[in-house]
Amino acid sequence: MKTELRVNDVPVTLDVPSGTSLLSALRDELGLTGAKFGCGQGQCGACVVLVGDEPLPACKLSVEEVGKRPVTTIEGLANGGPLHRVQRAFLEEGALQCGYCTSGMILGAVALLRRNPSPREEDIRQALAPHLCRCGVYLRAIHAVQRAAR
Ligand code: FES
Ligand code: FES
Repeated sequence: MKTELRVNDVPVTLDVPSGTSLLSALRDELGLTGAKFGCGQGQCGACVVLVGDEPLPACKLSVEEVGKRPVTTIEGLANGGPLHRVQRAFLEEGALQCGYCTSGMILGAVALLRRNPSPREEDIRQALAPHLCRCGVYLRAIHAVQRAAR
């Protein structure tokens, strides 16, 4: 089945079976491996990408469900230019260890700052809540989002 998507500002045509998850399409068809496969159940946040401005688990979304909404993955955030301020802030605060949760967490933070440029700590905690981190970088991630907001 042919499906057209817009990924990181580039139109792409995929030929994949109906119901293929956006995560499989990104990783296996387009080679965009920044979004990670964790639980496959929409529970861990490792696969989160931006669909429009919304951070959504790509494992739970079929390519058909994306529709006309543009998809942004971690690879498209800087798009070859300087790092996005949220990426810089995560580096500066050391808010990553193994990095498995990092792309999803950063995209969740980007979405938060787009809708709320001056979030309270509580807002940040809420926005990061869907992102599980087995390395426990939560506090540093909060500091990183605060830094990016400044
Ligand atoms: S792999 Fe998608 S939420 Fe866990
Ligand atoms: S940095 Fe390892 S899972 Fe978050």
